[in-house]
Amino acid sequence: MEMEQLVALCKRRGFIFQSSEIYGGLNGFWDYGPLGVELKRNVREAWWRDMVAGHNELVAPPGAPAPYEMTGLDCSIIMHPQVWKCSGHYDLFHDFMVDCRETKGRYRHDQVQGRWVEYRGQRIFVTAEAAGSDGLEETLQKALKFFNVRGKNAVELKWDGPLVSLATVKDTSNALAPAAKQLGTFTDPREFNLMFKTIAGALGTEADAVFLRPETAQGIFVNFKNVLDSTRVKIPFGIAQIGKSFRNEITPRNFTFRSREFEQMEIEFFCHPATSPDWYRYWRDRRYKWYLDLGLSGDRLRLRDHDKEELSHYSCGTADIEYAFPFLSPGEFGELEGVAHRGDFDLRSHAEGKLVHADANDSSSPLVVEQDAEGKPKYRGSGKDLSYFDDQARERFLPHVIEPSAGADRATLAFLCEAYSEDEAPDENGKPAKRVVLRFHPRLAPYKAAVFPLVKKEGMPEIAQEIYAALKPHFPVFYDEKAAVGRRYRRQDEIGTPFCVTVDGQTLQDGSVTLRDRDTLKQWRVKKEDCLTEIGGRLRS
Ligand code: GAP
Repeated sequence: MEMEQLVALCKRRGFIFQSSEIYGGLNGFWDYGPLGVELKRNVREAWWRDMVAGHNELVAPPGAPAPYEMTGLDCSIIMHPQVWKCSGHYDLFHDFMVDCRETKGRYRHDQVQGRWVEYRGQRIFVTAEAAGSDGLEETLQKALKFFNVRGKNAVELKWDGPLVSLATVKDTSNALAPAAKQLGTFTDPREFNLMFKTIAGALGTEADAVFLRPETAQGIFVNFKNVLDSTRVKIPFGIAQIGKSFRNEITPRNFTFRSREFEQMEIEFFCHPATSPDWYRYWRDRRYKWYLDLGLSGDRLRLRDHDKEELSHYSCGTADIEYAFPFLSPGEFGELEGVAHRGDFDLRSHAEGKLVHADANDSSSPLVVEQDAEGKPKYRGSGKDLSYFDDQARERFLPHVIEPSAGADRATLAFLCEAYSEDEAPDENGKPAKRVVLRFHPRLAPYKAAVFPLVKKEGMPEIAQEIYAALKPHFPVFYDEKAAVGRRYRRQDEIGTPFCVTVDGQTLQDGSVTLRDRDTLKQWRVKKEDCLTEIGGRLRS
């Protein structure tokens, strides 16, 4: 499948639109249309149901070291700026960007890919933006013109070495930027913080600067004590949150894959340090299986453990769950979710230090982190005790955290990519013709069934509407009486509806209707009053 086909289908059938499209769009922002909103909601609900609401805290699920509890949170997007200083986002959450002085293109430094090419003793670094080698040949053609090399001289021009990132090139005076005609037009890399900044309050001064959260996780850490104090949860337990996050990505790309506004589904799982490696393995494997259970194929989904060098200093394990998105080069995978062992890093950072009044003589002045003699914060954290006391073991400790952190938009995109398929099926005239079908897992499909009268007469619409009304309270159903029935089937295939019910001539005689399966194209008859049991049973199986 070409990515363009999926993007076109998403727009045509109302799954995903570019944000502010009538004004030319806004790079890195997307709107979910009438079907997209249902699909993404189903992804979120499947996650919440499987991870939180449907979790049985009395028994240990397969692979879990012990029974555990799960609870939820919904935190604000804007939090106290100190949260981000403490989490490290304020100082460290940046990418390096480079500009091309000639084309005015702006790139994330590590994402510009290139290969060295040699021509008569001179080496130039030919680059293209992003994944794989897409665009490299095109830039090379420009390079050929640059060297005024045509025809047989071109064979003297040799690729030298593999595809590598621009970040590996120290001197860029011989680098050719994507689509540039001259050498050496890259600026030096510059640091760029990815957090969106805004102002809270009417004064509008820099002192009122706040940030849109770049992850939902920190809201969970800063509420750890509130959850402990307001519920009876005991370690081990997890806190889950679904919500929007914002990152001012330098180069948003690949449809919704890298956006500037996106939704995360994160769990912070708190456990005893001694058992944390077992919990890490449990969550890594459980989260991988979740995607498989919802239909992603094992060939395109992989679990990749990070090498020791890739791990943060506090982590004893991180794995990425990755999917072979069709916009990537063959053999490449893109991250769907990271599962990280975070140790006690976050709770420890938020616990450090203490808050004092900005003006020691004025108890109404704002609370700030205690400062040293030079006016710099003495500590990063809140100064609150975020430890946990196990009253049975009579032990106090800082819990370790396992963090499965998924992107709702990336998961939705992966389910769309996996579902898209083309095959041949009889058209409205009964002749074999190309069919586009979204083979969603039934839990994810926006509509679970569609109901049609074969024709708009002889009482068929009335019976079809009765069936529609009987199904509607149980799951989303679509009613359609327009166009030939073959075309109506095609429309439902294209949006992934698993079952269609048709009221036809035989219904008027014996009360049975035709049921059609989206994937097998099999048709069979059931009594009209049995539609709910029949479809409901198949959706659950
Ligand atoms: N709290 C950990 C954390 O935020 P992350 O790997 O930066 O980790 C987790 O993000 C997930 O959020 C990613 O695996 C991805 O699914 C999603 N995500 C991150 N940046 C994104 C972006 N710019 N657009 C869409 N999804 C994104």
